[in-house]
Amino acid sequence: MKAIVRRAYGGPDVLRLEEAPAPVPGPGEVLVRVRAASLNAMDVHFLPGRPLLFRLFTGLTRPKDPRSGADLAGEVEAVGAGVTRFAPGDRVFGVARGAFAEAACAAEGKLAAIPDTVSFEQAATLPVAGVTALQGLRDAGQLRAGQKVLVVGAGGGVGSLAVQIARALGGEVTAVCGPAHVARLRAAGTERVIDYSAADFLAAGERYDLIFDLAGDRGFAALSRALTAEGRVVAAGIGAVGGLAGWAWRLAIGMLRSALGRRKLAFFVAAIRPADLALLAAMVEAGTLTPPVTRRYPLAEAAEATRAFLGGEAGGKIVLTV
Ligand SMILES: NC(=O)c1ccc[n+]([C@@H]2O[C@H](COP(=O)([O-])OP(=O)(O)OC[C@H]3O[C@@H](n4cnc5c(N)ncnc54)[C@H](OP(=O)(O)O)[C@@H]3O)[C@@H](O)[C@H]2O)c1
Repeated sequence: MKAIVRRAYGGPDVLRLEEAPAPVPGPGEVLVRVRAASLNAMDVHFLPGRPLLFRLFTGLTRPKDPRSGADLAGEVEAVGAGVTRFAPGDRVFGVARGAFAEAACAAEGKLAAIPDTVSFEQAATLPVAGVTALQGLRDAGQLRAGQKVLVVGAGGGVGSLAVQIARALGGEVTAVCGPAHVARLRAAGTERVIDYSAADFLAAGERYDLIFDLAGDRGFAALSRALTAEGRVVAAGIGAVGGLAGWAWRLAIGMLRSALGRRKLAFFVAAIRPADLALLAAMVEAGTLTPPVTRRYPLAEAAEATRAFLGGEAGGKIVLTV
């Protein structure tokens, strides 16, 4: 089979289409014939192997695991021992190592069925970004109907889904994004959109019950100025300001402030669960969630797709078709 592999650390050019051995499903695994995959920040930002500290886990001089991609949608080709929820021919989506390939093996518990009316491309946008948005707002953010929500970083994959999920959960949504994404977010029905290059949302004097921060560039003390008395910040994104060390420092100080005050800061890492995947797919089927597919590339052009992701103009979700 054909797969996108990376044999070195570097920019998008390290991503090459190569012939690779067909994966064989082990116990509890499902072999998926991939029809579509989507890019996430983690596929793109760790390509250069930085921060160097991470190489202790990923390989000192070159990636130990050359596979790339996580989000996929496709058809079950075979199942390993003990798999009970899926059979060959089923349409499924979820997360697997090496999703940027013609086939990949996923753990049964990282997959859910695709409803008949939902396409492979639509389903492929949902796993990492959709689950992050859903769990960030509903679980870490404890969002309730009628609350005011600010999504910072709303132009990206997680953010474009988060503004819709927040609305579906009954939130009154304000989106903060760059100028390239304002029109798309308005067209998607977002009540208020703030272009961060034209206005500072902190200077507007508005108060929010929940700030879902995917940009990660501001500390909790600054964001708190835009919170209600018992408001909450959910931090999911790692900001560029000050590098990883600067972000970790802001988070540590923020957690301390949060422990001492009524306004709260929560950092969370999304966990892929079948029930949440199924909920997201049901929302797409019901028309309450529209997958924000902004660009499509054939699998062979994964490097080009990665350049587009890094460029930022596309925003939303970039899909690879297989
Ligand atoms: N905690 C978790 O479990 C988890 C899971 C998935 C992703 N993440 C993290 O969540 C973040 C978003 O992921 P993603 O896939 O949505 O990435 P993405 O598609 O690159 O989106 C990031 C967005 O942030 C925007 N942005 C950057 N600086 C901003 C600022 N100062 N103010 C407002 N918006 C700003 C960018 O907007 P412009 O292009 O308009 O500048 C971009 O659209 C990443 O940091 C990722 O690592 C965390």
